Amino acid sequence: MKPRDPKSVKKLFESISHKYDFLNDFFSFGLHRLWKKQLLSLLEPSSGQDWIDLCCGTGDLSFALAKLVHPLGSVLGVDFSDSQIDHARKRSFADPSLSISWLKQDVLNTGLPSASFDGVIMAYGLRNLEDPEAGLKEIHRLLKPGSKAGVLDFNHPTEGSKTSYFQKFYLRRVVVPIASLMGLRNEYAYLEESLKSFPKGDIQKKIAMKIGFKEARYQLLLGGQMGILLLTA
Ligand SMILES: C[S@@+](CC[C@H](N)C(=O)[O-])C[C@H]1O[C@@H](n2cnc3c(N)ncnc32)[C@H](O)[C@@H]1O
Repeated sequence: MKPRDPKSVKKLFESISHKYDFLNDFFSFGLHRLWKKQLLSLLEPSSGQDWIDLCCGTGDLSFALAKLVHPLGSVLGVDFSDSQIDHARKRSFADPSLSISWLKQDVLNTGLPSASFDGVIMAYGLRNLEDPEAGLKEIHRLLKPGSKAGVLDFNHPTEGSKTSYFQKFYLRRVVVPIASLMGLRNEYAYLEESLKSFPKGDIQKKIAMKIGFKEARYQLLLGGQMGILLLTA
């Protein structure tokens, strides 16, 4: 599969949506929930704010955000995969008191007004975008001046480092073989492919500053396996 080709990426997430949440828990030993919590605690969303969750998938972060901005705030989850967003929408029926809406759209072309959000969040989306720099530009455009964004994704470690060795070992020897048993070999082999051209944390910071963010920090998680890019518009 061609990394970051929008049609292929959409097809991939359509095809794994029924097993996506289970496999996320399984491959990360549930740790993705902890990393998402950490992302939220760094961003400190507060009651009454309006947030957008880009590449929301089945909506994990949208739901967590909606609880934090409740009762006067709102969350908009955006994803271009029909099945991922349908799944998220169905999940939201469980708690109709939360103010969440869903938009099936390419995050590089949301058509939403500029400076309309108090915060932007994106988990495991930037690496999949056709143009990650355009993704960061869209985040900047959507944020009100002075407000914050957080982007969680795999870190792209230095080639030859222990972190890189462990990441490759885990993806090649654990993730791909197990995914293969479920008929999802290519879908999960894509993870390593997508990382090859994904900008490293310090480059992400430079790109963000060039775009016009006032502040950009990059924080490593799990010994450098994951990273959070924290931005202030
Ligand atoms: C790895 S999943 C992450 C889902 C969720 N944020 C999470 O952390 O569980 C990536 C999601 O990004 C979506 N996606 C990828 N490229 C996109 C784009 N250009 N526009 C909208 N959604 C996109 C996919 O459909 C998929 O649901």
